[in-house]
Formats: sequence, structure tokens, C-alpha cells
Amino acid sequence: RAEVVINGSSSPAVVDRSNESIKHNIQPGSSKWRQNQTLSLRIRKQILKFLDAEKDISVLKGTLKPGDIIHYIFDRDSTMNVSQNLYELLPRTSPLKNRHFQTCAIVGNSGVLLNSGCGPEIDTHNFVIRCNLAPVQEYARDVGLKTDLVTMNPSVIQRAFEDLVNATWREKLLQRLHSLNGSILWIPAFMARGGKERVEWVNELILKHHVNVRTAYPSLRLLHAVRGYWLTNKVHIKRPTTGLLMYTLATRFCNQIYLYGFWPFPLDQNQNPVKYHYYDSLKYGYTSQASPHTMPLEFKALKSLHEQGALKLTVGQCD
Ligand code: CTP
Repeated sequence: RAEVVINGSSSPAVVDRSNESIKHNIQPGSSKWRQNQTLSLRIRKQILKFLDAEKDISVLKGTLKPGDIIHYIFDRDSTMNVSQNLYELLPRTSPLKNRHFQTCAIVGNSGVLLNSGCGPEIDTHNFVIRCNLAPVQEYARDVGLKTDLVTMNPSVIQRAFEDLVNATWREKLLQRLHSLNGSILWIPAFMARGGKERVEWVNELILKHHVNVRTAYPSLRLLHAVRGYWLTNKVHIKRPTTGLLMYTLATRFCNQIYLYGFWPFPLDQNQNPVKYHYYDSLKYGYTSQASPHTMPLEFKALKSLHEQGALKLTVGQCD
């Protein structure tokens, strides 16, 4: 068929079964999964009608100047001014310009990664994307070390670095930034008010300590464009999660996409408890009405794409 079925009821891949654990079941092992290159290319083309990852991955220097006023994407009534530091850190050209990779890994932060032994497999991919500055050193066996792009929602500074209240936390963040060693640090700075100071602190640290990272600040239209793509495909997300954003961007420059650490459920396929994050004690909150994310819905769409061969989801142990 000409259309990509991501979440339509006509797709046999998303037939609803009453038993939750069966519903989310993913066939273990890579032997059964085959990539559908035609479908992957069709998805890339479709997404390109909504956004272009090469451009939308970051605002460029030429398009803003210090003092410019930006309306936050989710809080249109609130504004921020482009600071000198932010301006300095805007890239001159897209960090993804002309970049193409045979295989990419997108590493989500679910506790399903613990004891997966997926680290070495993740590190074999040509381009590895991680989310929200998640720690790697202590978890290398399960999550790997290679990092080509890592995201940083401003809220991470509060949640994982105590809002830099003292020198110890500042040093911790600085060490984490230094460890990125030339990779892309992707900071959604224009999404929601409230992150302004945190973004500024990070920008200042990077400049003051000459941290070797390539900063990127997603375009103002990215969020709506990504949402538009998924809505058009009947995936009714409220606000795309970082993981879904990364998949959507990766379709542009990755031939094969492998997802690890995507599992927004408190029990695994064998009914064992799963931590929300592999590295902290954050609890499952996505089911609350207040949460802007609809992770189980996203997961269903990703699972359907897995079953059609457009991406590969790993939710258990690596072979
Ligand atoms: N993820 C998942 N299952 C979990 C936790 C995370 O599938 N139990 C995926 C989601 O796609 C998520 C990504 O991993 O976006 C990274 O996790 P996290 O840092 O929690 O991201 P967000 O929830 O998007 O971040 P925030 O809460 O700051 O919006």
C-alpha cells in the first residue's frame, strides 16, 4: 500500500489485545526482525514535508542577533531575549550538514536497559543519540559510552544537578560536559518559560571553561512540525517526548534506526518491575493528566514501526 500505517486500526501491527503484557510484547532476538528499506525511505520523505532535520536541528547564527526577542513555543505570552552567550554558541552551519549514517542508535532512558548488556551493541552504531545528559560511565555495560548527540532539557539542571546550588554541583555538571568531548549538545532553549536561567548557566559554563561541545538549539518550528507529522499519521500526541523528537530527526540522516531504553511501563515483558529511568529514582508520572507527554501512545506507534521494519526496538537483553 502507498500509505505508511503507523497507528491506523487497519494495521495488523496495532490490533488491540486485552492482555497488556501481550500487547506490548516485542519478539526478542534480532533474527526475526528485517529492515524494510522502502518503508524507511518513504517515512523519511513524508517527514521531510514537515521538517528538515538538517535545518531544524538548530537555529543558526545568521538568523538571530543578541537582544532579539523570542516567544516561547509553549508559552506564547512569555518572551526571552537572545543573550550574548547564547548568540556566541549558536552554530554557523548545521551540525548535521551533509551527514549520513548507515546505522544510528537512539538511547531512551527507561530502566529496561538495566541488565540488558546492550552497551557494546549500542557502541557499534555509527551515530549514537542520548537523552537528557543521562549518565553513561557507571552503566556502560548496559547503555554503552559512545555519544554523538545528547539532549539537555533545561529541567535536567534542576533534577540531576540540584540547580547548581553550590560548587560541587557546578563541578559535576562541568565534568559531565567535558566528558562529551566534541559531541553535539542539543538544548531546547525556546520551548517553555522557566528554563531561561538554567540554559544561561550552562551556556556560561561552556564558554568560561572552553568546553569542547557543539551546541545546537532547535528551531522554533520543530516541535509543531514533529507534532504535525505524527498527528497526520493518527498518532495523537500532546507534546512529543525527547525520544520521539530524536527518532523523527534521525530519519533524515540515518539509514537504519535502532531504539534502546524505550519502555514507558512499570513492568517488563516477564512482569518484572522496571525503573522509570535507569539512573535515578524518578517515578512513573506520564499517566497523570498534567503530564504533557503521551508515552504509551508513542510507544505503540514505535512498536508498529518496529513490526513493519522501519526501525528496530530492543526492549530486552541484547544478543
Ligand atoms: N523513555 C521511555 N520510557 C521510559 C523513560 C523514557 O520510552 N520509561 C524514552 C522517552 O522517549 C523519553 C526518552 O526516553 O523522551 C528520554 O527519557 P527522559 O529523559 O525521561 O525524557 P523526557 O520525558 O522527554 O524528558 P522531560 O521529562 O524532561 O520532558
